[in-house]
Amino acid sequence: MATRRQVEESVSYLRGRLPLAPEIGLVLGSGLGPIADELEDAVHIPYGDIPHFRTSTAPDHAGRLVCGMLAGKRVLCMQGRLHGYEGWTPDEIAYPVYVMKALGVRALVLTNASGGINTSFSVGDFMLIEDHINMTGKSPLTGPNDNGLGTRFPDMTFAYAPELREKADAAAEECRVALHHGVYCGVNGPQFETPAEIRMFRAQGADAVGMSTVFEVIAAAHCGLPVAAVAMITNMAAGVLMQPLSGAEVNEIAAQRGPEFRRFVTALVGKI
Ligand code: HPA
Repeated sequence: MATRRQVEESVSYLRGRLPLAPEIGLVLGSGLGPIADELEDAVHIPYGDIPHFRTSTAPDHAGRLVCGMLAGKRVLCMQGRLHGYEGWTPDEIAYPVYVMKALGVRALVLTNASGGINTSFSVGDFMLIEDHINMTGKSPLTGPNDNGLGTRFPDMTFAYAPELREKADAAAEECRVALHHGVYCGVNGPQFETPAEIRMFRAQGADAVGMSTVFEVIAAAHCGLPVAAVAMITNMAAGVLMQPLSGAEVNEIAAQRGPEFRRFVTALVGKI
């Protein structure tokens, strides 16, 4: 897993390049990257320039930090995240979370594209993640623990911070956006799930499924960084509609619903 020494090296590099001290971290999922283009006075730093950062290879993930002002807040955006299906390990995926915490970020907002498991959801809906089920079988905390980053056995009870969930509800109300609440099931991918897997996840209490988020949330709980996470339902999960799924569909809906989602996320950032 990440070490304090690595994090300090990344932080000292970034302090020399960032125009301001960020207070909110924002991780942008598939098709949601354009939020970063709305930051004022933005500075862009490719992941490849930053010591110990890995570079995202997923389509439409730009792979850079964008730092600037959003809704009056000093924001550090990950425009593009890393995924397990690209071959990155959970600790590589979660690493930037520790760097954000060490830079002074006081809340982390995560976004993702998800498949809807709850049959009351529709394509294009938004869901506030209240909790997760980690079906990857992996953890970014595997291996020796660096006590300088966090404790060996972090509590996950309030990983999705109740006070940030309240702010998300208030932002949704203000934007007149419907916001479901639910449980996110994190899988490795890259294949979409089978209909049988989706039936199992539903029986276990999941409302949406996706290939990201859980490692970042575990790292955030480990280093004491409160998280708000919101999912865009870009498709109904396998077997719900008995039609084939495609990555193109996910991107199409993400692009279509992107402007509304960005409006909502911007309002949420403004309340944190
Ligand atoms: N399954 C897993 N990940 C996803 C999906 C899905 O149906 N949609 C968007 N990301």
